Amino acid sequence: MTNEHRQSMRAFLAIADEASSLTRIADRVDPVHEIAAWLSLLDGRGPLVFENVAGHAMAVTGNHLTTRAQAARALGVETDGLQARLVDAVRSPLAPRVVAGPAPCQEVVVPDPDLAALPIPVFFEHETGPYISAGAIVARDTVSGRGNLSIARLKPLGANRALIGIAPNHHLSQLARAARARGDRLEIAVSLGNHPALLLAACFYLGLGDDELEVAGALFGEPLEVAPCRSVGLAVPAHCELVLEGVLDPDETVEEGPVSEFHGMYERYGAGHVVTFSQMTRRRDAVFQCVLPGYAGEHVLLGAEAIAAGLRQSLDRALPSVREVAVTAGGAGRLHAVVSLEGAREGAARRAIFAVWAAVSLVKQVTVVDGDVDPWDPVAVEHAVATRMRPERDLIVVSGVQADRAEPLEKDGLVGKLGIDATAFASDRSDWTRARPPEAVLARVRERIARQLRDSGTATPGRPRS
Ligand SMILES: Cc1cc2nc3c(=O)[nH]c(=O)nc-3n(C[C@H](O)[C@H](O)[C@H](O)COP(=O)(O)O)c2cc1C
Repeated sequence: MTNEHRQSMRAFLAIADEASSLTRIADRVDPVHEIAAWLSLLDGRGPLVFENVAGHAMAVTGNHLTTRAQAARALGVETDGLQARLVDAVRSPLAPRVVAGPAPCQEVVVPDPDLAALPIPVFFEHETGPYISAGAIVARDTVSGRGNLSIARLKPLGANRALIGIAPNHHLSQLARAARARGDRLEIAVSLGNHPALLLAACFYLGLGDDELEVAGALFGEPLEVAPCRSVGLAVPAHCELVLEGVLDPDETVEEGPVSEFHGMYERYGAGHVVTFSQMTRRRDAVFQCVLPGYAGEHVLLGAEAIAAGLRQSLDRALPSVREVAVTAGGAGRLHAVVSLEGAREGAARRAIFAVWAAVSLVKQVTVVDGDVDPWDPVAVEHAVATRMRPERDLIVVSGVQADRAEPLEKDGLVGKLGIDATAFASDRSDWTRARPPEAVLARVRERIARQLRDSGTATPGRPRS
Protein backbone atom coordinates (compact mmCIF):
# COMPACT_ATOMS: atom_id res chain seq x y z
CA MET A 1 0.00 0.00 0.00
CA THR A 2 1.20 3.47 -0.82
CA ASN A 3 1.61 6.24 1.78
CA GLU A 4 0.79 8.92 -0.75
CA HIS A 5 -2.45 10.83 -0.25
CA ARG A 6 -5.18 9.03 -2.20
CA GLN A 7 -6.19 12.23 -4.05
CA SER A 8 -2.68 12.70 -5.44
CA MET A 9 -1.15 11.76 -8.77
CA ARG A 10 1.56 10.04 -6.70
CA ALA A 11 -0.96 7.59 -5.22
CA PHE A 12 -2.13 6.73 -8.74
CA LEU A 13 1.46 6.23 -9.96
CA ALA A 14 2.37 4.16 -6.88
CA ILE A 15 -0.57 1.83 -7.50
CA ALA A 16 0.42 1.53 -11.17
CA ASP A 17 3.96 0.73 -10.02
CA GLU A 18 2.75 -2.00 -7.65
CA ALA A 19 0.75 -3.48 -10.53
CA SER A 20 3.90 -3.36 -12.74
CA SER A 21 2.16 -1.14 -15.27
CA LEU A 22 4.41 1.90 -14.69
CA THR A 23 7.46 2.34 -16.93
CA ARG A 24 10.36 4.49 -15.77
CA ILE A 25 12.49 5.87 -18.57
CA ALA A 26 16.03 6.41 -17.32
CA ASP A 27 17.38 7.39 -20.78
CA ARG A 28 18.07 11.07 -21.27
CA VAL A 29 15.11 12.50 -23.22
CA ASP A 30 14.83 15.84 -24.96
CA PRO A 31 11.60 17.73 -24.17
CA VAL A 32 11.63 18.84 -27.80
CA HIS A 33 9.75 16.08 -29.67
CA GLU A 34 11.40 13.13 -27.86
CA ILE A 35 8.99 12.92 -24.93
CA ALA A 36 6.12 13.01 -27.44
CA ALA A 37 7.74 10.23 -29.47
CA TRP A 38 8.07 7.99 -26.37
CA LEU A 39 4.48 8.70 -25.31
CA SER A 40 3.23 8.02 -28.81
CA LEU A 41 5.18 4.79 -29.36
CA LEU A 42 4.24 3.42 -25.90
CA ASP A 43 0.61 4.59 -26.05
CA GLY A 44 -1.62 2.07 -24.27
CA ARG A 45 1.18 0.47 -22.24
CA GLY A 46 0.56 2.37 -18.99
CA PRO A 47 1.96 5.48 -17.31
CA LEU A 48 5.50 6.60 -18.19
CA VAL A 49 7.85 8.60 -15.98
CA PHE A 50 10.79 10.34 -17.65
CA GLU A 51 13.42 10.60 -14.95
CA ASN A 52 16.14 12.28 -16.97
CA VAL A 53 14.89 15.23 -19.00
CA ALA A 54 17.60 17.18 -20.81
CA GLY A 55 18.13 20.60 -19.28
CA HIS A 56 15.79 20.03 -16.33
CA ALA A 57 15.93 18.51 -12.86
CA MET A 58 12.15 17.93 -12.83
CA ALA A 59 10.81 14.56 -14.02
CA VAL A 60 7.98 14.40 -16.54
CA THR A 61 5.11 11.92 -16.61
CA GLY A 62 2.33 11.09 -19.08
CA ASN A 63 0.07 8.40 -20.62
CA HIS A 64 -1.79 7.89 -17.34
CA LEU A 65 -5.14 6.94 -18.84
CA THR A 66 -4.83 5.40 -22.26
CA THR A 67 -7.34 2.56 -21.89
CA ARG A 68 -10.80 2.27 -20.32
CA ALA A 69 -9.49 -0.47 -18.04
CA GLN A 70 -6.85 1.95 -16.65
CA ALA A 71 -9.49 4.64 -16.15
CA ALA A 72 -11.74 2.18 -14.30
CA ARG A 73 -8.86 0.99 -12.10
CA ALA A 74 -7.96 4.58 -11.28
CA LEU A 75 -11.50 5.10 -9.96
CA GLY A 76 -11.57 1.72 -8.20
CA VAL A 77 -14.31 0.16 -10.32
CA GLU A 78 -14.61 -2.59 -12.95
CA THR A 79 -14.57 -1.41 -16.59
CA ASP A 80 -18.27 -2.33 -16.87
CA GLY A 81 -19.04 0.03 -14.01
CA LEU A 82 -17.02 3.03 -15.22
CA GLN A 83 -19.88 4.95 -16.84
CA ALA A 84 -22.22 4.40 -13.88
CA ARG A 85 -19.48 5.72 -11.55
CA LEU A 86 -19.01 8.87 -13.64
CA VAL A 87 -22.75 9.51 -13.96
CA ASP A 88 -23.25 9.01 -10.20
CA ALA A 89 -20.51 11.55 -9.49
CA VAL A 90 -22.13 14.16 -11.74
CA ARG A 91 -25.46 13.56 -9.98
CA SER A 92 -24.08 13.82 -6.44
CA PRO A 93 -21.34 16.49 -6.33
CA LEU A 94 -19.45 17.03 -3.06
CA ALA A 95 -18.22 20.46 -1.97
CA PRO A 96 -14.41 20.68 -1.55
CA ARG A 97 -12.78 20.92 1.88
CA VAL A 98 -10.03 23.45 2.61
CA VAL A 99 -6.95 21.73 4.10
CA ALA A 100 -5.54 22.96 7.35
CA GLY A 101 -1.90 24.05 7.25
CA PRO A 102 0.47 24.23 4.26
CA ALA A 103 -0.60 22.16 1.26
CA PRO A 104 1.80 19.75 -0.48
CA CYS A 105 1.52 21.76 -3.71
CA GLN A 106 2.74 24.89 -1.89
CA GLU A 107 6.03 23.65 -0.42
CA VAL A 108 8.00 26.00 -2.67
CA VAL A 109 6.83 29.48 -3.69
CA VAL A 110 8.26 31.15 -6.81
CA PRO A 111 7.18 34.75 -7.51
CA ASP A 112 7.15 35.90 -11.16
CA PRO A 113 7.91 32.40 -12.44
CA ASP A 114 9.86 31.85 -15.64
CA LEU A 115 7.99 29.14 -17.55
CA ALA A 116 11.22 28.23 -19.37
CA ALA A 117 12.38 26.63 -16.10
CA LEU A 118 9.70 23.94 -16.50
CA PRO A 119 10.23 20.82 -18.68
CA ILE A 120 7.32 21.65 -20.99
CA PRO A 121 7.37 19.37 -24.04
CA VAL A 122 7.28 20.47 -27.65
CA PHE A 123 5.02 17.73 -28.98
CA PHE A 124 4.56 17.89 -32.73
CA GLU A 125 6.59 18.80 -35.78
CA HIS A 126 4.55 21.80 -36.97
CA GLU A 127 3.46 23.26 -33.65
CA THR A 128 5.12 26.55 -32.85
CA GLY A 129 6.38 25.86 -29.34
CA PRO A 130 6.01 23.85 -26.16
CA TYR A 131 2.56 23.32 -24.62
CA ILE A 132 1.36 22.77 -21.07
CA SER A 133 -1.31 20.19 -21.95
CA ALA A 134 -2.42 18.74 -18.60
CA GLY A 135 -3.21 21.95 -16.74
CA ALA A 136 -6.52 21.68 -14.88
CA ILE A 137 -7.57 25.30 -14.75
CA VAL A 138 -9.54 26.59 -11.77
CA ALA A 139 -11.61 29.76 -12.24
CA ARG A 140 -14.60 31.33 -10.53
CA ASP A 141 -17.58 33.39 -11.56
CA THR A 142 -17.22 36.31 -9.19
CA VAL A 143 -20.94 37.13 -9.46
CA SER A 144 -22.41 33.68 -8.69
CA GLY A 145 -19.36 32.53 -6.71
CA ARG A 146 -19.47 29.18 -8.51
CA GLY A 147 -16.25 27.53 -9.65
CA ASN A 148 -15.09 25.94 -12.90
CA LEU A 149 -12.42 23.37 -13.68
CA SER A 150 -11.34 22.63 -17.24
CA ILE A 151 -8.27 21.79 -19.30
CA ALA A 152 -6.94 24.23 -21.88
CA ARG A 153 -3.55 24.35 -23.58
CA LEU A 154 -1.00 26.97 -22.58
CA LYS A 155 1.90 27.96 -24.80
CA PRO A 156 4.69 29.90 -23.06
CA LEU A 157 5.39 33.30 -24.63
CA GLY A 158 8.53 34.12 -22.63
CA ALA A 159 9.05 34.78 -18.88
CA ASN A 160 5.75 34.51 -16.99
CA ARG A 161 3.36 34.87 -19.93
CA ALA A 162 1.51 32.24 -21.95
CA LEU A 163 -1.08 32.00 -24.69
CA ILE A 164 -4.23 30.15 -23.64
CA GLY A 165 -6.32 28.44 -26.33
CA ILE A 166 -9.96 28.10 -25.33
CA ALA A 167 -12.96 27.25 -27.52
CA PRO A 168 -15.40 30.19 -27.31
CA ASN A 169 -18.28 27.93 -26.17
CA HIS A 170 -16.32 26.59 -23.18
CA HIS A 171 -17.24 27.90 -19.75
CA LEU A 172 -13.74 29.19 -19.10
CA SER A 173 -14.06 31.41 -22.18
CA GLN A 174 -17.52 32.54 -21.07
CA LEU A 175 -16.15 33.43 -17.62
CA ALA A 176 -13.33 35.42 -19.24
CA ARG A 177 -15.82 37.36 -21.40
CA ALA A 178 -18.09 38.02 -18.41
CA ALA A 179 -15.10 39.37 -16.46
CA ARG A 180 -14.17 41.64 -19.36
CA ALA A 181 -17.75 42.94 -19.56
CA ARG A 182 -17.37 43.96 -15.90
CA GLY A 183 -14.02 45.61 -16.68
CA ASP A 184 -12.07 42.85 -14.87
CA ARG A 185 -9.49 40.28 -15.84
CA LEU A 186 -10.25 36.66 -14.93
CA GLU A 187 -8.15 35.11 -12.18
CA ILE A 188 -7.08 31.56 -12.92
CA ALA A 189 -4.98 28.89 -11.24
CA VAL A 190 -3.45 26.13 -13.36
CA SER A 191 -3.12 22.94 -11.34
CA LEU A 192 -0.61 20.45 -12.75
CA GLY A 193 0.14 16.87 -11.76
CA ASN A 194 -3.26 15.55 -10.78
CA HIS A 195 -4.95 12.27 -10.02
CA PRO A 196 -6.91 10.99 -13.07
CA ALA A 197 -10.22 11.62 -11.26
CA LEU A 198 -9.53 15.34 -11.48
CA LEU A 199 -8.71 15.33 -15.17
CA LEU A 200 -11.82 13.28 -15.93
CA ALA A 201 -13.95 15.70 -13.90
CA ALA A 202 -12.37 18.66 -15.74
CA CYS A 203 -13.60 17.27 -19.07
CA PHE A 204 -17.30 17.11 -18.14
CA TYR A 205 -19.66 19.33 -20.09
CA LEU A 206 -21.81 20.46 -17.17
CA GLY A 207 -24.03 23.51 -16.88
CA LEU A 208 -22.34 26.91 -16.50
CA GLY A 209 -21.80 27.31 -12.75
CA ASP A 210 -21.70 23.56 -12.03
CA ASP A 211 -18.31 23.13 -10.39
CA GLU A 212 -16.22 20.21 -11.68
CA LEU A 213 -14.14 20.30 -8.46
CA GLU A 214 -17.26 19.03 -6.71
CA VAL A 215 -17.58 16.20 -9.24
CA ALA A 216 -13.91 15.30 -8.61
CA GLY A 217 -14.77 14.99 -4.91
CA ALA A 218 -17.68 12.71 -5.74
CA LEU A 219 -15.35 10.54 -7.84
CA PHE A 220 -13.07 10.16 -4.79
CA GLY A 221 -16.11 9.49 -2.58
CA GLU A 222 -14.96 12.28 -0.27
CA PRO A 223 -14.61 16.08 -0.52
CA LEU A 224 -11.69 17.14 -2.66
CA GLU A 225 -9.01 18.71 -0.46
CA VAL A 226 -8.17 22.18 -1.71
CA ALA A 227 -5.69 24.87 -0.70
CA PRO A 228 -6.31 28.63 -0.98
CA CYS A 229 -4.03 30.22 -3.58
CA ARG A 230 -1.57 32.85 -2.42
CA SER A 231 -2.03 35.57 -5.03
CA VAL A 232 -5.53 34.95 -6.46
CA GLY A 233 -8.88 34.33 -4.79
CA LEU A 234 -9.14 30.68 -5.79
CA ALA A 235 -8.55 27.28 -4.21
CA VAL A 236 -6.65 24.49 -5.97
CA PRO A 237 -6.39 20.70 -5.48
CA ALA A 238 -4.07 20.54 -2.46
CA HIS A 239 -2.31 17.33 -3.51
CA CYS A 240 -1.33 18.33 -7.04
CA GLU A 241 2.33 18.81 -8.02
CA LEU A 242 2.50 22.42 -9.15
CA VAL A 243 0.27 25.49 -9.44
CA LEU A 244 0.55 28.57 -11.66
CA GLU A 245 -1.51 31.50 -10.36
CA GLY A 246 -2.36 34.35 -12.68
CA VAL A 247 -4.84 36.42 -14.66
CA LEU A 248 -6.32 35.90 -18.10
CA ASP A 249 -6.57 39.12 -20.08
CA PRO A 250 -9.19 38.77 -22.81
CA ASP A 251 -8.15 42.10 -24.29
CA GLU A 252 -4.61 40.94 -25.07
CA THR A 253 -4.34 38.38 -27.87
CA VAL A 254 -1.51 36.61 -29.68
CA GLU A 255 -1.57 34.64 -32.93
CA GLU A 256 -1.12 30.92 -32.18
CA GLY A 257 -0.15 29.23 -35.46
CA PRO A 258 -0.91 25.58 -36.25
CA VAL A 259 -1.93 23.51 -33.25
CA SER A 260 -2.77 19.81 -33.05
CA GLU A 261 -6.34 18.71 -32.34
CA PHE A 262 -7.91 15.51 -31.00
CA HIS A 263 -8.77 14.38 -34.56
CA GLY A 264 -5.07 14.10 -35.39
CA MET A 265 -4.58 17.02 -37.75
CA TYR A 266 -3.52 20.65 -37.18
CA GLU A 267 -6.01 23.47 -36.78
CA ARG A 268 -5.39 27.18 -37.22
CA TYR A 269 -7.62 28.92 -34.73
CA GLY A 270 -6.00 32.32 -35.04
CA ALA A 271 -5.44 34.41 -31.92
CA GLY A 272 -5.50 33.18 -28.32
CA HIS A 273 -5.73 35.15 -25.08
CA VAL A 274 -2.74 35.96 -22.91
CA VAL A 275 -2.27 34.77 -19.32
CA THR A 276 0.25 36.36 -16.97
CA PHE A 277 1.39 34.31 -13.98
CA SER A 278 2.24 36.19 -10.81
CA GLN A 279 3.25 33.18 -8.78
CA MET A 280 4.14 29.49 -8.98
CA THR A 281 3.87 27.10 -6.05
CA ARG A 282 5.04 23.51 -6.17
CA ARG A 283 6.14 20.45 -4.29
CA ARG A 284 9.86 20.39 -3.55
CA ASP A 285 10.25 17.32 -5.83
CA ALA A 286 7.39 18.14 -8.20
CA VAL A 287 6.81 15.90 -11.22
CA PHE A 288 5.57 17.64 -14.36
CA GLN A 289 2.53 15.98 -15.96
CA CYS A 290 1.65 16.14 -19.63
CA VAL A 291 -1.08 14.63 -21.77
CA LEU A 292 0.08 13.77 -25.27
CA PRO A 293 -2.27 15.94 -27.36
CA GLY A 294 -3.51 15.20 -30.90
CA TYR A 295 -5.06 11.83 -31.76
CA ALA A 296 -3.49 9.99 -28.84
CA GLY A 297 -4.90 7.52 -26.33
CA GLU A 298 -5.17 9.68 -23.23
CA HIS A 299 -6.39 12.82 -24.99
CA VAL A 300 -9.06 10.81 -26.79
CA LEU A 301 -10.10 8.85 -23.69
CA LEU A 302 -10.45 11.79 -21.30
CA GLY A 303 -12.86 13.54 -23.64
CA ALA A 304 -14.67 10.35 -24.66
CA GLU A 305 -15.47 9.17 -21.13
CA ALA A 306 -16.67 12.56 -19.97
CA ILE A 307 -18.77 13.19 -23.09
CA ALA A 308 -20.24 9.67 -22.99
CA ALA A 309 -21.22 9.97 -19.32
CA GLY A 310 -22.72 13.42 -19.96
CA LEU A 311 -24.68 12.03 -22.92
CA ARG A 312 -25.86 9.13 -20.79
CA GLN A 313 -27.25 11.63 -18.33
CA SER A 314 -29.04 13.78 -20.88
CA LEU A 315 -30.39 10.73 -22.76
CA ASP A 316 -31.80 9.34 -19.53
CA ARG A 317 -34.00 12.43 -19.46
CA ALA A 318 -35.19 11.83 -23.05
CA LEU A 319 -35.63 8.02 -23.06
CA PRO A 320 -36.30 5.42 -20.40
CA SER A 321 -34.36 2.63 -22.08
CA VAL A 322 -30.68 3.71 -22.33
CA ARG A 323 -28.23 1.00 -21.23
CA GLU A 324 -24.91 2.70 -22.02
CA VAL A 325 -23.44 5.37 -24.29
CA ALA A 326 -20.01 5.05 -25.88
CA VAL A 327 -17.96 7.75 -27.54
CA THR A 328 -15.56 5.80 -29.66
CA ALA A 329 -11.78 5.94 -30.02
CA GLY A 330 -12.14 5.60 -33.80
CA GLY A 331 -14.24 8.78 -33.72
CA ALA A 332 -11.33 10.47 -31.90
CA GLY A 333 -13.25 10.43 -28.63
CA ARG A 334 -15.50 13.29 -29.74
CA LEU A 335 -17.11 12.72 -33.16
CA HIS A 336 -18.91 9.34 -33.02
CA ALA A 337 -21.28 8.07 -30.36
CA VAL A 338 -22.93 4.67 -29.96
CA VAL A 339 -26.06 4.34 -27.82
CA SER A 340 -27.33 0.97 -26.63
CA LEU A 341 -31.05 0.80 -25.86
CA GLU A 342 -32.73 -1.90 -23.80
CA GLY A 343 -36.01 -3.15 -25.33
CA ALA A 344 -36.38 -0.05 -27.50
CA ARG A 345 -39.78 0.70 -29.01
CA GLU A 346 -39.94 1.64 -32.68
CA GLY A 347 -38.83 5.25 -33.10
CA ALA A 348 -36.75 5.26 -29.89
CA ALA A 349 -33.48 4.96 -31.85
CA ARG A 350 -34.33 8.08 -33.88
CA ARG A 351 -35.24 9.93 -30.72
CA ALA A 352 -31.84 8.95 -29.24
CA ILE A 353 -30.01 10.16 -32.35
CA PHE A 354 -31.62 13.62 -32.22
CA ALA A 355 -31.09 13.86 -28.45
CA VAL A 356 -27.34 13.20 -28.86
CA TRP A 357 -26.99 15.81 -31.60
CA ALA A 358 -28.84 18.32 -29.45
CA ALA A 359 -26.68 17.63 -26.40
CA VAL A 360 -23.12 17.78 -27.81
CA SER A 361 -22.29 19.79 -30.91
CA LEU A 362 -19.08 17.85 -31.62
CA VAL A 363 -20.85 14.51 -32.10
CA LYS A 364 -21.47 13.93 -35.78
CA GLN A 365 -22.31 10.23 -36.17
CA VAL A 366 -24.67 8.40 -33.82
CA THR A 367 -25.21 4.64 -34.06
CA VAL A 368 -27.97 3.07 -31.99
CA VAL A 369 -27.76 -0.62 -31.07
CA ASP A 370 -29.81 -2.98 -28.94
CA GLY A 371 -29.03 -3.69 -25.30
CA ASP A 372 -27.28 -7.00 -26.12
CA VAL A 373 -24.51 -5.11 -27.98
CA ASP A 374 -21.56 -3.61 -26.12
CA PRO A 375 -21.36 -0.06 -27.56
CA TRP A 376 -17.63 0.17 -26.64
CA ASP A 377 -16.81 -2.92 -28.76
CA PRO A 378 -16.28 -1.75 -32.37
CA VAL A 379 -16.58 -5.29 -33.76
CA ALA A 380 -19.88 -5.90 -31.96
CA VAL A 381 -21.21 -2.55 -33.20
CA GLU A 382 -20.19 -3.27 -36.79
CA HIS A 383 -21.80 -6.70 -36.50
CA ALA A 384 -25.06 -5.02 -35.41
CA VAL A 385 -24.83 -2.63 -38.37
CA ALA A 386 -24.14 -5.57 -40.71
CA THR A 387 -27.04 -7.69 -39.48
CA ARG A 388 -29.72 -5.23 -38.27
CA MET A 389 -29.47 -2.07 -40.37
CA ARG A 390 -31.18 -1.53 -43.75
CA PRO A 391 -29.57 1.53 -45.39
CA GLU A 392 -32.72 2.46 -47.32
CA ARG A 393 -34.67 2.64 -44.05
CA ASP A 394 -32.28 3.11 -41.12
CA LEU A 395 -29.99 5.98 -42.05
CA ILE A 396 -30.61 9.64 -41.28
CA VAL A 397 -28.40 12.13 -43.10
CA VAL A 398 -28.71 15.78 -42.15
CA SER A 399 -26.75 18.38 -44.07
CA GLY A 400 -25.86 21.97 -43.27
CA VAL A 401 -25.65 21.74 -39.47
CA GLN A 402 -23.69 24.42 -37.62
CA ALA A 403 -20.30 22.81 -36.86
CA ASP A 404 -18.06 22.91 -33.83
CA ARG A 405 -14.87 24.81 -34.65
CA ALA A 406 -12.78 21.65 -34.08
CA GLU A 407 -14.80 19.60 -36.59
CA PRO A 408 -12.25 18.29 -39.14
CA LEU A 409 -14.67 18.46 -42.10
CA GLU A 410 -16.17 21.84 -41.22
CA LYS A 411 -16.85 23.91 -44.33
CA ASP A 412 -18.25 27.44 -44.18
CA GLY A 413 -19.13 26.73 -40.55
CA LEU A 414 -21.30 23.75 -41.49
CA VAL A 415 -21.07 19.97 -41.35
CA GLY A 416 -23.27 16.94 -42.15
CA LYS A 417 -24.53 14.47 -39.55
CA LEU A 418 -25.25 10.75 -39.84
CA GLY A 419 -27.61 8.68 -37.71
CA ILE A 420 -27.58 4.87 -37.97
CA ASP A 421 -30.39 2.84 -36.48
CA ALA A 422 -28.82 -0.61 -36.02
CA THR A 423 -31.51 -1.93 -33.70
CA ALA A 424 -33.35 -5.08 -34.76
CA PHE A 425 -36.78 -4.64 -36.30
CA ALA A 426 -39.17 -7.51 -35.55
CA SER A 427 -40.41 -7.36 -39.13
CA ASP A 428 -36.97 -8.02 -40.65
CA ARG A 429 -36.68 -11.68 -39.64
CA SER A 430 -38.99 -14.24 -38.16
CA ASP A 431 -36.18 -15.66 -36.03
CA TRP A 432 -33.41 -13.61 -34.34
CA THR A 433 -32.19 -16.48 -32.11
CA ARG A 434 -28.38 -16.48 -31.76
CA ALA A 435 -26.77 -19.84 -32.58
CA ARG A 436 -24.75 -20.89 -29.55
CA PRO A 437 -24.45 -23.72 -27.02
CA PRO A 438 -27.11 -23.83 -24.29
CA GLU A 439 -26.57 -21.23 -21.52
CA ALA A 440 -26.36 -23.87 -18.76
CA VAL A 441 -23.56 -25.67 -20.61
CA LEU A 442 -21.71 -22.41 -21.27
CA ALA A 443 -21.88 -21.51 -17.56
CA ARG A 444 -20.56 -24.96 -16.56
CA VAL A 445 -17.66 -24.88 -19.03
CA ARG A 446 -16.84 -21.25 -18.20
CA GLU A 447 -16.39 -22.28 -14.58
CA ARG A 448 -14.19 -25.24 -15.54
CA ILE A 449 -11.97 -23.07 -17.74
CA ALA A 450 -11.59 -20.54 -14.91
CA ARG A 451 -10.68 -23.34 -12.46
CA GLN A 452 -8.11 -24.81 -14.84
CA LEU A 453 -6.48 -21.45 -15.40
CA ARG A 454 -6.45 -20.76 -11.66
CA ASP A 455 -4.84 -24.14 -10.98
CA SER A 456 -2.21 -23.60 -13.65
CA GLY A 457 -1.44 -20.10 -12.26
CA THR A 458 -2.53 -18.35 -15.45
CA ALA A 459 -4.55 -15.14 -15.16
CA THR A 460 -8.34 -15.49 -15.32
CA PRO A 461 -9.53 -15.35 -18.91
CA GLY A 462 -11.40 -12.34 -20.22
CA ARG A 463 -15.16 -12.40 -20.63
CA PRO A 464 -15.93 -15.06 -23.26
CA ARG A 465 -17.60 -13.62 -26.35
CA SER A 466 -20.61 -15.93 -26.32
C1 LIG B 1 -5.74 16.90 -22.71
C2 LIG B 1 -6.84 17.86 -23.02
C3 LIG B 1 -6.55 19.08 -23.57
C4 LIG B 1 -7.55 20.00 -23.85
N1 LIG B 1 -7.21 21.19 -24.37
C5 LIG B 1 -8.18 22.10 -24.63
C6 LIG B 1 -7.82 23.36 -25.18
O1 LIG B 1 -6.66 23.65 -25.45
N2 LIG B 1 -8.82 24.25 -25.40
C7 LIG B 1 -10.13 23.97 -25.10
O2 LIG B 1 -11.00 24.82 -25.31
N3 LIG B 1 -10.50 22.76 -24.62
C8 LIG B 1 -9.55 21.83 -24.37
N4 LIG B 1 -9.89 20.61 -23.87
C9 LIG B 1 -11.31 20.29 -23.64
C10 LIG B 1 -11.89 20.93 -22.42
O3 LIG B 1 -11.08 20.75 -21.28
C11 LIG B 1 -13.26 20.35 -22.10
O4 LIG B 1 -14.10 20.50 -23.19
C12 LIG B 1 -13.92 20.95 -20.89
O5 LIG B 1 -15.10 20.23 -20.63
C13 LIG B 1 -14.27 22.42 -21.05
O6 LIG B 1 -14.81 22.82 -19.80
P1 LIG B 1 -15.55 24.19 -19.53
O7 LIG B 1 -16.64 24.33 -20.57
O8 LIG B 1 -16.09 24.01 -18.14
O9 LIG B 1 -14.55 25.32 -19.62
C14 LIG B 1 -8.90 19.66 -23.58
C15 LIG B 1 -9.20 18.42 -23.05
C16 LIG B 1 -8.19 17.51 -22.78
C17 LIG B 1 -8.54 16.18 -22.20
